[in-house]
Amino acid sequence: MSDPATLTPAEAEAELATLAAEIARHDRAYHEQDAPLITDAEYDALRRRNAALEAAFPLLVRADSPSRRVGAAAASGFAKIAHGVPMLSLDNAFGAGDFTEFCDRIRRFLGLKDEALEFVAEPKIDGLSISLTYENGAFTRGATRGDGLVGEDVTPNLRTMKSVPERLNDPHPPARIEIRGEVFMTKADFAALNEAQEKSGQKIFANPRNAAAGSLRQLDASITATRPLSLFAYAMGEASEKVADTHWHWLKRLEDWGFTVNPLSERLAGAEAAEAFQARIAAERAGLAYDIDGVVYKLDSLAWQARLGFVGRAPRWAIAWKFPAEQATTVLEAILIQVGRTGALTPVAQLTPVNVGGVLVARATLHNEDEIARKDIRVGDTVTLQRAGDVIPQVVAVLTDRRPANATPFVFPTTCPVCGSHATRAEGEVVRRCTGGLTCPAQTEERLIHFVSRPAFDIDGLGEKSIREFHAEGLVRSPADIFRLPAHEAAIAQREGWGELSARNLSAAIRARQTIPLARFIYALGIRRIGEANAKLLARHYVTFANWREQMRAAATIGSEARSDLNNIIRIGPAIADELIEFMAEPRNLAVLDDLAALLTIEDAAQAADSGALAGKIIVFTGTLETMTRPEAKARAEALGARVTDSVSKKTDLVVLGSDAGSKARKAAELGVRTVTEAEWRALAGME
Ligand code: IVH
Repeated sequence: MSDPATLTPAEAEAELATLAAEIARHDRAYHEQDAPLITDAEYDALRRRNAALEAAFPLLVRADSPSRRVGAAAASGFAKIAHGVPMLSLDNAFGAGDFTEFCDRIRRFLGLKDEALEFVAEPKIDGLSISLTYENGAFTRGATRGDGLVGEDVTPNLRTMKSVPERLNDPHPPARIEIRGEVFMTKADFAALNEAQEKSGQKIFANPRNAAAGSLRQLDASITATRPLSLFAYAMGEASEKVADTHWHWLKRLEDWGFTVNPLSERLAGAEAAEAFQARIAAERAGLAYDIDGVVYKLDSLAWQARLGFVGRAPRWAIAWKFPAEQATTVLEAILIQVGRTGALTPVAQLTPVNVGGVLVARATLHNEDEIARKDIRVGDTVTLQRAGDVIPQVVAVLTDRRPANATPFVFPTTCPVCGSHATRAEGEVVRRCTGGLTCPAQTEERLIHFVSRPAFDIDGLGEKSIREFHAEGLVRSPADIFRLPAHEAAIAQREGWGELSARNLSAAIRARQTIPLARFIYALGIRRIGEANAKLLARHYVTFANWREQMRAAATIGSEARSDLNNIIRIGPAIADELIEFMAEPRNLAVLDDLAALLTIEDAAQAADSGALAGKIIVFTGTLETMTRPEAKARAEALGARVTDSVSKKTDLVVLGSDAGSKARKAAELGVRTVTEAEWRALAGME
């Protein structure tokens, strides 16, 4: 990066514009979507560069400069609350030099000699700041920071938190007082929440901060109530009267009122004491229950704070002394491919173990194959690792000058390392997935649970718990094994919690489901993107299992009639079609499918649904159809058991007249063959 002093004003102006846009983009990702795109260290670097350029070119400071803004605008969905006193941010210090400078600035501003300044030091939690207003001791409203001036009204959400007192514990509370603090999630609560989220197929949070923000900013406060959120109170907003002379006493008041103040907070004097505190907290950091990224030092005297005031987005009386991003270098020994329960292939770096910020790290995520290619990460490389707030360490850079001569670019596997099925990547997606869902040991357990779920085979007495047990013991490895369970009835009866009656009932329930409608059967296979609705569409279209199986195989050939037929089914887009084709192209899936089908009676869809309203009928379409294509109309007719021909004869049962129907319409009239309009056809074919 070039020294600001060497830039022309035009260059500086252009760079400031880029920085403003970049920082705004990251602010939105972080504050509104709770999904940061870069590490905190990278973000801080952007802001520092912006500040350096603005210092060198004060006339070029933009109206929308990031230095004048905090965070992101309040997101829609919540009512807005204007903060009486802006909720600002903090300037950063990255070492003892920065801190001494900060002290010198305060002394200069206040005209003090070189006596030691008194500070209160508080660990800087990585969460989100909130404001709580109490009127005559009662909690009346709470808001997020938003852009610092206007935040979101999250009062009902905050009321669900145990650490937000409904009333201040004080017989004579101030008429009005605003308390500020940090909402956060402990590392343990975060891990438990993510595990539960993953189990129920919901969004996984990148780190505790995002989890806390995402949990608090729920439009439905009852969701917030289920999330383990904590709060440390640490600052004052608007106040109707003076409640303390020093910040330290303010913290004591907060505790008396019933708030939790970070117990590690300390009052200290001078830069040396601050440096010692910084070192001590850095050493304790890894063992703390929550993530911190530095220590906030606040001048203790509130009178001095008032005199110092603010500059830009930050107070002159406080500073956040950040820990250096926790980085280390080590050797990448291998790239392992993990297969998740949904079949996603995730590359993981196996590393020569190294200490990163007090934690021994032997593995790091590599995200996906594009990321490996982008960073050109190779086995044998020396890499820089980082744990920056995030729990999972990341590979941030490759030290290419230390690359062994024989290191070759990593080739991402196209088969599943667990089961050998082919692994494919849908257009526009970053994740490569194993297609052997039914056989892949990494996925079978989840697939089996889906298989017996209510909209699928819905087997009474065979729920998630039993499936997990039977699977773990090898009793049920594939869907077909479920239908072999009755053969093990005696053994099941012996199991704890079972007994003869339940075992017999289970066998009966399984046999009762050996006859199954085609739509349920297709749904039960758990093919990606094939939910209940699509399974029904497919079943109606292909009618029989044998036909469906054959057509899906044939559709693998690009340009085939089967492919265009599949693409023509209403609502089955190309992405869905591809999933089906890939599933059927995997021989392992076919083996499981056929093994299963041999044990079942799969009911034809037309019989099950509309019991072949048009079974055996001969239909002719003529003229231009307005609401469907010819192949679609034909497929629908066939799905209902009819045969579609081109010419009208005495044998024809029905002629569907599109617009401009000509000779065929006349012929039908001559022969006395029944004719219907397109709309009547739709009604007849159940397409409404
Ligand atoms: S005081 C005007 N104290 O850090 C001073 N902030 O970078 C306002 N934070 O928005 C903040 N721990 O989200 C303060 N003990 C602490 C803090 C703290 C974490 C966060 C807060 C703030 C951000 C500023």
